[in-house]
Amino acid sequence: MPSNPIIVALDVPDAAKAVDLAHRLDPALCRVKVGKQLFTSAGPKCVEQLASLGFDVFLDLKFHDIPTTVELACRAAADLGVWMLNVHALGGPDMLAAARRGVGNGADAPLLIAVTLLTSMNQAALQAIGLAGQPEDVVLRLARLTQDCGLNGVVCSAQEASLLRATLGPGFVLVTPGIRPAGSDMNDQSRTMTPKAALQAGAHYLVIGRPVTHAPDPMAALRDILQSINE
Ligand code: C5P
Repeated sequence: MPSNPIIVALDVPDAAKAVDLAHRLDPALCRVKVGKQLFTSAGPKCVEQLASLGFDVFLDLKFHDIPTTVELACRAAADLGVWMLNVHALGGPDMLAAARRGVGNGADAPLLIAVTLLTSMNQAALQAIGLAGQPEDVVLRLARLTQDCGLNGVVCSAQEASLLRATLGPGFVLVTPGIRPAGSDMNDQSRTMTPKAALQAGAHYLVIGRPVTHAPDPMAALRDILQSINE
């Protein structure tokens, strides 16, 4: 387990709010995630601002396009100095290989991970788009493909972490959202796990948003989570 496993999802509408939140957190104790909402409104400058405050930034834009476009988008993200970025495994092997080329294999290359299946997709949604098998089968198939294409890991639900960890080995990075500290509000998440249980199931990094960002004191909420992990 990395010494700093929490990635705080900065799901806020603009750069001012993101930077304000970042000032209330400690880059020694967490990393941050910039997703589509914040990036679309605030752009690369906001990523640079967060990095200049000392935060490792996970750029969660889930690229999914033709291979050349994804390669160049991944290169642009790597040039921004992000710590981690992601693409959709459903883009297929050529697109995944192109993403790897875009990021490169250097020691300072960001971690490149893939989304297997959106956790919002259930069996009926899989059928509607013509994907055979249970969601777990599809996740495992896409995670194997991701590994075969040389990516560093996948985003997965904590429920899938132990299977993926056992199948894909200790070095394959598993990033899990849907984490809720014991007793905290579920918001719109349904199948959640506590931070400690998710790490025990094999997750390397935990994406946690509202339990930290909506807390009256985000830093205190983060410290409580870290303490619950170390207990
Ligand atoms: O506030 P909360 O902890 O629910 O935030 C979780 C973050 O992880 C959000 O940014 C959400 O978009 C993201 N996420 C998720 N489930 C997935 C993939 C990403 O909750 N399957």
